[in-house]
Amino acid sequence: MAIRNLRLEGDEILSKKSREVEVIDEKIQTLIDDMIETMHKYNGVGLAAVQVGILKRIVVIDLYDDKGPIVLINPVIIKEKGEQEVEEGCLSFPNQFAKIIRPAEVVAEYTDRDGKRMRVKAKELLAQAISHELDHLEGKLFIDKIIPGTLEYVEPEK
Ligand code: NI
Repeated sequence: MAIRNLRLEGDEILSKKSREVEVIDEKIQTLIDDMIETMHKYNGVGLAAVQVGILKRIVVIDLYDDKGPIVLINPVIIKEKGEQEVEEGCLSFPNQFAKIIRPAEVVAEYTDRDGKRMRVKAKELLAQAISHELDHLEGKLFIDKIIPGTLEYVEPEK
């Protein structure tokens, strides 16, 4: 496993659309392992493959609870319900946080790393994370959706 370089604010790749994964081969498994390691290294709750420079529809999410890291390949949101106003950041926008409206609940379908098609019903932080990470697959960034005037820069810990 290896830490991959994060693509940051201003990098054109972040606004590109990611492509479907057709075969979950060894290369994809390595990418997934590296994405999880990279997310953990930067204390993120989610990471999309595009953020390490790979335009594939792969997302990893970890809420640091008993479910462990979740791997979503070719995920699709099939239902959204309600709204929640939340504080949000992104590993591609270090030290920046803002308020944003996300769906209160989402139902998503995805393929897991064993190739099995799964369905997850999510609310609160998981719904927020799924919504944020799936936006990345479309080249959409949280910064373009934030509630105006709520952006804050937080000094990094030394
Ligand atoms: Ni992000």
